[in-house]
Amino acid sequence: MISKRLEDAINAQINAEMWSAYLYLSMSAYCQDAGYPGIANWFAIQFKEEQDHATIFFNYLQSRGGRVVLKAIEAVETEWASPLAAFEHTLQHEQKVTSLINNLMTIAIEEKDYAAQSRLQWFVDEQVEEEENATDLIQKLRMVEGNGYGMYQIDQELAARVYKQASPLATAE
Ligand code: FEO
Repeated sequence: MISKRLEDAINAQINAEMWSAYLYLSMSAYCQDAGYPGIANWFAIQFKEEQDHATIFFNYLQSRGGRVVLKAIEAVETEWASPLAAFEHTLQHEQKVTSLINNLMTIAIEEKDYAAQSRLQWFVDEQVEEEENATDLIQKLRMVEGNGYGMYQIDQELAARVYKQASPLATAE
């Protein structure tokens, strides 16, 4: 059985992951409209990954006998100055998510919930990748400084990204 404090915190995290999904779907729509279908694809996959994150927390809370309570998903931004600005926002957002995950881990440690710590470790590692991906793409976009051919190449590269279900879901059951 999970503590009420951790149950509440995981419910809040489910909402935060769904909000992240919504944010990246909005960035995908913006990039598609701005003429970058490949970058839009990258964000559309990010949208699916965030839904996976929400589902992992959802399943986990239920597996521990907790009660999932879904709250409203707040509105997200719809416009950015450029794809670079969208990735800068992505990095800033992922840094915030990292602090939310770290806070969940702190609660799990304080509650001496070792099972939750084990599940949360996957998210701790995932956040390293999330921040690294956004940082790499910011560097690439800064390198081309909006140059048409450079942007075309980055768009082509990100068009190749394919969705892969998050491992805790793929290995579940
Ligand atoms: Fe759910 Fe992008 O971390």
